[in-house]
Amino acid sequence: MLPRVFRSHVKALAIATALYGSVALGAQDASTDKIDILDYVDPLIGTANGGHVFAGATLPFGMAKAVADTQGENQAGFAWDTSVVTGFSHMHDSGTGGSPSLGNFPIFAQPSCPNDDINQCKWQQNDRAVAWEKDSVVADPGYFSISLTNGVKAEMTTTNRSALYRFTFDGSAESLSPVILVDLMDLPQSRSSGHASVNPNTGRLTGNGTFSPSFGIGSYNLHFCVDFKGADLRNTGVWSRNRANYTVENVMLTADGTDSAATLSAGTFAQFKSPENKEMLARVGVSFMDVNQACANAEQEQPHFDFDGTVAVAKSAWKTKLDVISVDAEGVSKDLQEVFWSGAYRTMISPQDYTGENPLWQSDEPYYDSYYCIWDSYRSIHPLLTLLDPLSQSLMMRSLVDIYRNEGFLPDCRMSLCKGYTQGGSNADVLMADAFLKKVPGIDWDTAYEAVVKDAEVEPENWDIEGRGGLHSWKDLGFIPTDDYDPYGTGTHTRSISRTVEYAYNDFCIAEIAKARGKEADYEKYLARSGNWINMFKANQKSSINGVDTGFTGFLQPRYMNGTWGSQDPSFCSPLLNFTSCYLNPTGHETYEGSAWLYTFYAPHDMGSLIKTLGGAEEFTKRLTFLHESGLLYVGDEQAFLTIFQFHYSGRPALSAKYSHFYIPSQFNTTTAGIAGNDDSGAMGSFVVLSMMGLWPVPGQDVYLITPPYFKEVSITNPISGKVSTIRNVNFDPGYKSIYIQTAKLNGKPWSKNWLTHDFFIEGGVLELELGEKESEWGTHVEDLPPSVSSYQ
Ligand SMILES: *[C@@H]1O[C@H](CO)[C@@H](O)[C@H](O)[C@H]1NC(C)=O
Ligand SMILES: *[C@@H]1O[C@H](CO)[C@@H](O)[C@H](O)[C@H]1NC(C)=O
Ligand SMILES: *[C@@H]1O[C@H](CO)[C@@H](O)[C@H](O)[C@H]1NC(C)=O
Ligand SMILES: *[C@@H]1O[C@H](CO)[C@@H](O)[C@H](O)[C@H]1NC(C)=O
Ligand SMILES: *[C@@H]1O[C@H](CO)[C@@H](O)[C@H](O)[C@H]1NC(C)=O
Ligand SMILES: *[C@@H]1O[C@H](CO)[C@@H](O)[C@H](O)[C@H]1NC(C)=O
Repeated sequence: MLPRVFRSHVKALAIATALYGSVALGAQDASTDKIDILDYVDPLIGTANGGHVFAGATLPFGMAKAVADTQGENQAGFAWDTSVVTGFSHMHDSGTGGSPSLGNFPIFAQPSCPNDDINQCKWQQNDRAVAWEKDSVVADPGYFSISLTNGVKAEMTTTNRSALYRFTFDGSAESLSPVILVDLMDLPQSRSSGHASVNPNTGRLTGNGTFSPSFGIGSYNLHFCVDFKGADLRNTGVWSRNRANYTVENVMLTADGTDSAATLSAGTFAQFKSPENKEMLARVGVSFMDVNQACANAEQEQPHFDFDGTVAVAKSAWKTKLDVISVDAEGVSKDLQEVFWSGAYRTMISPQDYTGENPLWQSDEPYYDSYYCIWDSYRSIHPLLTLLDPLSQSLMMRSLVDIYRNEGFLPDCRMSLCKGYTQGGSNADVLMADAFLKKVPGIDWDTAYEAVVKDAEVEPENWDIEGRGGLHSWKDLGFIPTDDYDPYGTGTHTRSISRTVEYAYNDFCIAEIAKARGKEADYEKYLARSGNWINMFKANQKSSINGVDTGFTGFLQPRYMNGTWGSQDPSFCSPLLNFTSCYLNPTGHETYEGSAWLYTFYAPHDMGSLIKTLGGAEEFTKRLTFLHESGLLYVGDEQAFLTIFQFHYSGRPALSAKYSHFYIPSQFNTTTAGIAGNDDSGAMGSFVVLSMMGLWPVPGQDVYLITPPYFKEVSITNPISGKVSTIRNVNFDPGYKSIYIQTAKLNGKPWSKNWLTHDFFIEGGVLELELGEKESEWGTHVEDLPPSVSSYQ
């Protein structure tokens, strides 16, 4: 385990104090109206041990994301468990699991060159890499700072489309003459061509490059524009490999297939006379359109190079976003509060607003990018955004529909203007149903409906990047066979079990929209197809772990086209057996990033039928308990989330509360390694927030499963209607022994159902939960259970 993060709050406190007057930092038991919630956001959580969280400066959903880029597992640029920095770059993704993302055109500052010889400065990434000082890192919303052992302190902040860096030189260099270079490189070292220029009169550095996306196909072009302030220009030039030249003004690079990525490092630089106050600013504009727009983005968004002002604007943007939540945190530890607020913060890093930055088509619709990936985000990120920021959720859904209009399919994953890889079903269908049922405004439902039906009906040529594969078998056989014959498109023929259960749920989501839009025939058709999950259920399949029979019979199993059963150990790809054997590669087996044990629970629309299939409520509860107790489940993969709350369906909502506390805080804490698995654009963060708020949304349905909040009281102010929804615990116990609901009242009237609908958040209201130390009868009767296609009895 890694050491707990040591942070210096001094800088953040100074800024916060300037902005909001007095700040009660560290107040253990204060309620939110007395504290600044930004002090409870720690962007360093999840930056070690494969969390891949973006630690740097960004606005909510901003395109510019500035941070120090480290060598190591640097998917998001900076990682805590690294030792050297190679540059500072302006765009990133957060929490993603593919190759490192973006990180294009890093700049890097050196206080001077040895013997004042430009060729004795360090150029290539490996040569210029410098150790960073562990206790120097300060990360706050909109601000990141780090000190390097070469005597450079780098601070950074951002607007939507530009970054601002403040370099402070500690004076250890004999004669200060800073050199700031830009490198035509990106984090995954994917550049295929690039061009950089320097203006010898102003020192402005501009250029472009063609790069590959980190988890998808194709390529994208990006452009940059760097301006400096704070020192007089001394020299400019270009560099390539480990040589520099003052007289040349631009450099053009094309990968010729023989160059290794490392030797493709090249760019331009500006050298300065000693800056006053030993401090310099570098402002970097970025654009997917052209260099002029990159420069214009920077000039318009920060005409004055006002570092502290830009930080203040970013902080207030974050505060506005998070202010819709308020908690009564009396008795709740500071750590748990930090876990909560940091999770909410991480949910608003991506998708990123690239409106006006999309060169692929002309449209008046918004354009968001970094849906990375919807397989991860439909389960908790978008349901939480629907509560906290329905207007952004609306823009994101409109952008998805516009992608369909212009590219022919809804994406399942998308980054850097490119199509990303599909992991299971066409889960944008779930997002659309969720938005439809929760009345997210502004969506063109005719086109959205056309898009989800196309997912269900038309197999794309390449179903690795959109739509669904095996659609002919899906329609004819009612499942995806292991040996599927599919001449209609190409894609990776694995995941037959997980694709089958996801396609079934996707079809259910289409059925929900069809029903509400009066398309009765479509409704019947997709509802029927939503029952297909059962075609992969092998009733006599047993499961042994280390040779010991678990005692449970009946699991999803692979099946051939001729209807006979194949076989995959139900615990295969769980943490107990070949955990890493089910990724997205041609040898990836029949379940994706999880076991058949886990996927057997995935019929969220027809839990009545699933429970009967698994032997009734008592047997279901036993099996679900075993899933959590046996080590079969890894909470760091998103399919695990819903299983924590599925006890609601067998009439045991108390056990959902119990297992929520089983995982939080043991697997979610304030250390840099404090999340289980990749954050995946905030999936882990939103999981924690929704769990701690006490209402778990079943994605794609108008259903929230009720458990007690981890606070005495939580309120959400709906940003559209202004209505306030409050979930209040009576007999709240911050020691979390009393976590069992005894009775509930909704707006003063008894409420015995163990779930409620989104109306609660649209119309506002108060849900009052009386807690006790023992499981009660509340929410346990058949009439209290959440909706299911088939009855429970
Ligand atoms: C950033 O862009 C958002 C739209 O995505 C806009 O609402 C916001 O005002 C912009 N922020 C700043 C600081 O310009
Ligand atoms: C990059 O810049 C060079 C020089 O201005 C230009 O010739 C080239 O077309 C640009 N490439 C892209 C993809 O914009
Ligand atoms: C710099 O470039 C000029 C012009 O191409 C060339 O004559 C000179 O040798 C170069 N200097 C170095 C140090 O490479
Ligand atoms: C069904 O197909 C599988 C895979 O090709 C084959 O191994 C099996 O023998 C077939 N079963 C029957 C009954 O034909
Ligand atoms: C499962 O893991 C074992 C031990 O690491 C390995 O030998 C075996 O090949 C793996 N099996 C599969 C099907 O990947
Ligand atoms: C913090 O969370 C990580 C990731 O889930 C876990 O491995 C670790 O044990 C937790 N630490 C504590 C002290 O609970």
